Amino acid sequence: MSRVLVTGGASGLGAALVARFVAGGHQVLCTDVAVDGPGDGATYLQLDVRNAADWSTAVEWCEQNWGGLDILMNNAGIATGGRIDVETLDEWDRVVDINLMGVVRGCRAFTPMFKRQRSGHIVNTASAAGLVHPPMMSSYNTVKAGVVALSETLSHELHPYGVAVSVVCPSFFRTNLADSIRGADTAMSATARQLIEKSPRSADDIADVVLAGIKKKQFLIIPDRPALLAWRTKRFARPLYNRQMRKIAERARARAESG
Ligand SMILES: NC(=O)c1ccc[n+]([C@@H]2O[C@H](COP(=O)([O-])OP(=O)(O)OC[C@H]3O[C@@H](n4cnc5c(N)ncnc54)[C@H](O)[C@@H]3O)[C@@H](O)[C@H]2O)c1
Repeated sequence: MSRVLVTGGASGLGAALVARFVAGGHQVLCTDVAVDGPGDGATYLQLDVRNAADWSTAVEWCEQNWGGLDILMNNAGIATGGRIDVETLDEWDRVVDINLMGVVRGCRAFTPMFKRQRSGHIVNTASAAGLVHPPMMSSYNTVKAGVVALSETLSHELHPYGVAVSVVCPSFFRTNLADSIRGADTAMSATARQLIEKSPRSADDIADVVLAGIKKKQFLIIPDRPALLAWRTKRFARPLYNRQMRKIAERARARAESG
């Protein structure tokens, strides 16, 4: 039985993972930015990943109630995007603070405990956008690539302490993520909303594959075919990948210039 902390556990992928860990008989601390959260067999703690004090409280909670932690799932995140000259710097600051620094804070908060334990598993939710970088998504791509880089760095750095690291890189799947979009580039936001809400994949589909990857302590967890295909195309057929990306950009230019 593992002791698991999930951030962004009130919705989407986080909630699907919480449900699976609870069903598997694990002890789960479900956290989210909201004051109240689901009470479905997990303990709920309010944790805003932007807030260092909330992280300290979570570490203390795990120490006092569980005497440690086995799996830290840095999963909370928001969606952003837009053309580089349209998206605002405030939006960049917001997504860096939540999607990148939120993960950094979580890793920093729990690493001393994991080092002392000589065990632990950090699982960071990035995105396929952390591996492949479509146009008009620069802020989201940049922070998710940062999460991939952070995860790889820590997988090496913490290996001598017996601490494993995984990074999850899914393509679009159906959740409430589109509700977090506040961007100035409303045309691009509408496209992102459609891709999330019309995806054939649910959070449950993704959570099943993520869980299997966690069990194997797999570093790179790519839980769906479109993400895997895009990653392989970039690695093994770069000219084709570039053509696909340029086509998307060209369509966006034509749309923007036709008004
Ligand atoms: N849905 C997709 O298409 C998709 C694709 C790739 C990656 N992801 C990533 O998956 C993760 C989970 O997203 P989801 O799709 O389940 O979306 P979701 O909106 O359904 O769930 C995200 C949760 O994070 C919480 N959250 C937001 N800001 C927070 C903060 N500051 N502190 C704590 N919690 C906060 C929200 O309240 C929400 O409960 C995110 O990191 C997202 O970037 C999603």
